[in-house]
Amino acid sequence: MNHSRNHHIDNPDTPLASSAFGRGSCPGHLIVAVEDVSSVFAIKCAGNDRAASIKDHVVAEAEARKIPHALLAIDVAQLERKADEWNVQFPRVKPFYAVKSLPDPVVLTTLAASGVNFDCASSLEIDMALAAGATPDRIIFANPAKFPVDIEHARRVDVRKMTFDNDDELEKVKQIFPDAELVLRIVTDDSASVCRLSNKYGASLEDCPFLLERAQQLQLNVIGVSFHVGSGASEPSAFVESVANARKVFDMAADAGLPPFHLLDIGGGFPGDDEGCITTQQIADVVNPALEKHFPSHDVEVISEPGRFFSHSSATLAVRIISRRKVRTKSEGDPDILYYLGDGVYGSFNCMLYDHYTPQVPTPHTFEERDMDSSRVLQSRVFGPTCDGLDTIYESVALPQLEIGDLLIFKNMGAYTIAAASGFNGVTRPEVMHFRTS
Ligand SMILES: Cc1ncc(COP(=O)(O)O)c(C=O)c1O
Repeated sequence: MNHSRNHHIDNPDTPLASSAFGRGSCPGHLIVAVEDVSSVFAIKCAGNDRAASIKDHVVAEAEARKIPHALLAIDVAQLERKADEWNVQFPRVKPFYAVKSLPDPVVLTTLAASGVNFDCASSLEIDMALAAGATPDRIIFANPAKFPVDIEHARRVDVRKMTFDNDDELEKVKQIFPDAELVLRIVTDDSASVCRLSNKYGASLEDCPFLLERAQQLQLNVIGVSFHVGSGASEPSAFVESVANARKVFDMAADAGLPPFHLLDIGGGFPGDDEGCITTQQIADVVNPALEKHFPSHDVEVISEPGRFFSHSSATLAVRIISRRKVRTKSEGDPDILYYLGDGVYGSFNCMLYDHYTPQVPTPHTFEERDMDSSRVLQSRVFGPTCDGLDTIYESVALPQLEIGDLLIFKNMGAYTIAAASGFNGVTRPEVMHFRTS
């Protein structure tokens, strides 16, 4: 049965439906399968149980598409809600979505139509942002160590804003794109973040006078300061301290006689939900006053680079159980049963390695009437499909007994999942689909 016929097609006048992306229109390997956006369905959420409605829809689609491995389902309405939420929480801060976290054309089109701008790290990401409808001034090339060909590309497409943190990068930009609008990225205390970035990027405050002087000698146009407190931040004070440090660099530039800076970029690091040790509201509660304190003049434009904030809760992953092994002779510590899934650590679950993410226990979906007595759970070990023991999703998790062909539904799988999924062992990356909750 084609379950998708049960849903009505979204309003064709929406920006999504009128966009030109089609399956496979994105070059490179980042996007595996992007459907035609005219097939974005609206689904009605029954009562308050949004998760149950999404689960039903995703299961139906996985069946209709005969998905053998995994299906990543992206809710475009959730992206729109997040854009609204951002504007309420940070009225002064314009978001530039970090494309790297979920580089999906429909995600970008949706966010562009919601007034969100883009943080890009490469030519490919810049092209995706432009194709999604962003004008070049709505893009920041926020990679302090850029390929020269990418700087050339930015010049060709007139993406002017770009970050730097060293004088070699200044020389490079001088040669390739002397009219660029440069943003000096400074180091942060990222010790309370899950994914630290300041081991790699960010000039120290001590080095800033030298870099500003060098930019002046090269007659380059430095317009402001950026920072990133690390992805998965857990300490709002890291933002506050960095805003104060950025102020110091603005003052250094004024002292050195540079034209007044007018851009502050407070980076990413905002959580994707309120279930962790810190909420975006808690960050807003300290960042908004810090901005008013250190940057009272609204001549300074404040932007940010949130990735996870938008992408995390937008996607649900349905994964097929492809094999299993019952442990008949158990030694100490052995699980009752081993499951092998159609997606794993070399696919979407790479977030467990690179992003230190622990996926929430999935909701199982079985296809026949079976005794699903939830008190009869089995200690289960859950693997991905590759032949590597590292490809382990859960060492031990309590699940009912499931069959080959059943699905496990994982929510909150949008951030840093398919973005870095590989095709190791020749395993197909998840198919991607889009829908709209109402
Ligand atoms: C330069 C830059 N900006 C933004 C982000 C997005 O961070 P997050 O997803 O934590 O908001 C990253 C993540 O690595 C980054 O490197």
